[in-house]
Amino acid sequence: MNKIEFYRQLNEQVESLINDETDLIANMANISALLFSQLKDVNWAGFYRVINKELVLGPFQGNVACIRIPIGTGVCGTAVKTKSTQRVGDVHQFSGHIACDAASNAEIVIPVILADEVVAVLDIDSVTFERFDEQDQQGLEAIVITFEKCIVKNDSRSQ
Ligand code: SME
Repeated sequence: MNKIEFYRQLNEQVESLINDETDLIANMANISALLFSQLKDVNWAGFYRVINKELVLGPFQGNVACIRIPIGTGVCGTAVKTKSTQRVGDVHQFSGHIACDAASNAEIVIPVILADEVVAVLDIDSVTFERFDEQDQQGLEAIVITFEKCIVKNDSRSQ
């Protein structure tokens, strides 16, 4: 199966997992578990939430991780500050990278954006340098869009 088809199917699985559930944490937990089990060469997959202007560890799969990250610091904090995906082939070359797991060599962080505000980030780490390419980025960004749509839909339900 090629990568485009792999991510299309993965996105469908995400959609069916979260579609009927309104709880944000439960959905983050299941997305983390699905990505961690389905992506090859991944040693950490999970979320940090933006709470009171800092990132706080959310649901994840992998080794224990640092709990709080200031906005603008590390790969995650940079994704929030710039409101853009950070795809890093070699984290050791990334100024300010926070080494939660010394085994990690590559990382991709995608902001979850609602009404132009970053509410969380999806963070995925790998021990393999250059693990994430343009197709991984597009596939994972599409999954984050599915998640954003689910949050918006649930917001409008509760009004
Ligand atoms: N490496 C991240 C910190 C989080 S861990 O990878 C789980 C960073 O630099 O923001």
